[in-house]
Amino acid sequence: MASTLTGPLGPGAWTTGPVADMFSSYVAASALSAAHELGLLDQLAADGSAALRGSPGDGLDANVVQHIYRALSWAQIVVIEDGGSVKPGPQFDAAYAARGYFYWLVRGCGQLFAVTPELAWEQRRQGNFYERDMRAVAVGSRLIGDAEVERMFDKMIATRPVRKVVDLGCGSAHRLIRIAHDHPGIRGIGIDISGDAVRLASEAVAEAGIGHQISIRHADARRLEPAPEYSDTDTLTCVFMGHDFWPFTDCVRTLRGLQLAFPRAQRLLLCDVARTTEPPRPDATAIFTLGFESVHALMGVYVPTLAEWHEAFRASGWNCEGVYPTEAPPNGFLFELTPAGPAETP
Ligand SMILES: C[S@@+](CC[C@H](N)C(=O)[O-])C[C@H]1O[C@@H](n2cnc3c(N)ncnc32)[C@H](O)[C@@H]1O
Repeated sequence: MASTLTGPLGPGAWTTGPVADMFSSYVAASALSAAHELGLLDQLAADGSAALRGSPGDGLDANVVQHIYRALSWAQIVVIEDGGSVKPGPQFDAAYAARGYFYWLVRGCGQLFAVTPELAWEQRRQGNFYERDMRAVAVGSRLIGDAEVERMFDKMIATRPVRKVVDLGCGSAHRLIRIAHDHPGIRGIGIDISGDAVRLASEAVAEAGIGHQISIRHADARRLEPAPEYSDTDTLTCVFMGHDFWPFTDCVRTLRGLQLAFPRAQRLLLCDVARTTEPPRPDATAIFTLGFESVHALMGVYVPTLAEWHEAFRASGWNCEGVYPTEAPPNGFLFELTPAGPAETP
């Protein structure tokens, strides 16, 4: 097979342009994620300027800091000024708003992309065949939810009295902490399967000084049994993890099981990103979609479509009282669910 390099396409046709930009985008995306973790974005947002090579005593390598800013300047997120300072560029506000998506992608899930060829071999897809940084996934998810989802939750919690809430896949526990802070009478339990997320959540609860209101448990939300501390729960929340209940039969079993483990739960507020049904297109695919769907394909986690979610609710005895689409994340939906009847043994 003749290489295109020996054909009509000379290097001048691709060393700049869309394919070259794709290469630089990867570097800029990594820099954005790093700039978030290192506090450089927050510093720029707060102060409006920063030193290109970092500040004395910050403990950061000057060349690495400069590389991060140079990559961000390529993406117009910062502008490098004569004299060695940096200020926010024309894309700064958008990049700052989207920082959670980049942190989730690069720091949380980046390893998956590096080893994609290994993950492609069926025989290697056994046991714990991939790694993610679940602390970064939890932090990224918190930032992703901040734009829109959290306000929706605050409204939903305010519309009906809540005494005890259990957050399934609580991640950093930020939602529980906020709810507990806003409603001192509410008690809460956060449940997460990841040791890293449980540590992060426990630290955050301790730091917020609300250990008397919130407890964190290390458990699999798909296998919860009735327990005294669950018996008075009236509200269940589950954000950006419902797809982990799937495939369909497992999801139906888990959703039914929740009614048994939480017999007094009157509402399940489930928010998740659904799988798109159109092929990705440069002019139409919004942020997150391609990354979210790729990451879950690499991990072998099924992501249901909106229609499949509705089927699962019908089959598991949950009435869907409302569906609220989100713009950020794109193709996200908050489902307001109530038990259709008394819980049945799955
Ligand atoms: C994308 S993060 C979302 C975190 C949080 N709900 C939020 O809104 O920011 C998904 C979380 O669900 C947790 N998780 C995944 N499967 C789970 C399961 N079967 N049981 C409990 N937690 C689970 C993960 O460890 C991770 O912390």
